[in-house]
Amino acid sequence: MMRQAGRYLPEYKATRVQAGSFLQLCYNPELACEVTLQPIRRFGFDAAILFSDILVIPDAMGQEVRFEEGVGPLLDPIETSDAVDRLTIDSVVDRLAPVIETVTRVREALPDETTFLGFCGAPWTVASYMIAGRGTPEQVPARVFSYQNRSAFIQLIDKLVAASTSYLVAQLRAGADAVQIFDTWGGMLTDDQFSSFVLEPTRRIVDGVRAQVPGARIIGFPRGAGARLPGYVEASGVDAVGVDWMANRAFVRDSVQPNCPVQGNLDPMALVAGGEYLDREIDSVLEGFDTSRLIFNLGHGIVPQTPIEHVEQMVARVRAYRG
Ligand code: CP3
Repeated sequence: MMRQAGRYLPEYKATRVQAGSFLQLCYNPELACEVTLQPIRRFGFDAAILFSDILVIPDAMGQEVRFEEGVGPLLDPIETSDAVDRLTIDSVVDRLAPVIETVTRVREALPDETTFLGFCGAPWTVASYMIAGRGTPEQVPARVFSYQNRSAFIQLIDKLVAASTSYLVAQLRAGADAVQIFDTWGGMLTDDQFSSFVLEPTRRIVDGVRAQVPGARIIGFPRGAGARLPGYVEASGVDAVGVDWMANRAFVRDSVQPNCPVQGNLDPMALVAGGEYLDREIDSVLEGFDTSRLIFNLGHGIVPQTPIEHVEQMVARVRAYRG
């Protein structure tokens, strides 16, 4: 289960207190490794995802990032082309050495049969936080900036492509089996912008990573892509694609799954609701897709109020399914 995977777990909250702050936890290899392993120990999932955040990239590029309790991420907003000029990409992997060290430790500690996923944020999604300085419901500041400061915006995307490529290569070399590119806000763009800010930069990351790590396995997650999903798979070159809870299952089954395995789709709110509602949603997901090319997962991050028993219920039902 992606993002905040540990946030509903008491053992995660305890480790976070021990680390001090969220970012200190991301940069503490011993504790970040521990937090990565916690859900695996508890539920025996088939895959673990590295504990870090998509916003360590701006932090490593020299933009101040902090996480405020109850507010979320806060960054010094990028308002001018000078602010884009000041961002540095050469030392990103050095600055993220603690995260890479976490990858090494997790790989050593994980059972061989458990897949280990690294990740980064996609350039558009990361840029949207860098420009607004915080999460914004419709990415208004970044969308306006992309019109009014087109060349600075493209420069920012280019810097993020370069930084993300070397960061993913470092994760794969340190032992990640596959990497996932999170484009949480990909669905907010016009068709032309989707091509220029999502498809093209993602393709450059995919090609750049595979040039250095031949055969690297890459999963894309363009949330809200809807009817653009088949085009995303084709243009980006990813090996598998994450599907949000809003997707039309018949469409995905017929026009994505023949070319590409999919992951996701369970509504995180069904997991909060639990009981028969959860059972029914799980069955709809399993029956709605070609299960031979489905990685069962949530359609977006788990929310903190999710009861642990509902996760147990989900794991038991999915494991018992024989489609
Ligand atoms: O699941 C995992 O533990 C893997 C690690 C992971 C985190 N963030 C840890 C985290 C991953 C894969 C992410 C991705 C991420 N981070 C995305 C893309 C995917 C998605 O879900 O949309 C985005 C947009 C972010 C940025 C981010 N990080 C936001 C907006 C927030 C606060 C939002 C909220 O709901 O509170 C975070 C915080 C964050 N990242 C937490 C964790 C465990 C929660 C911190 C805490 O409360 O301890």
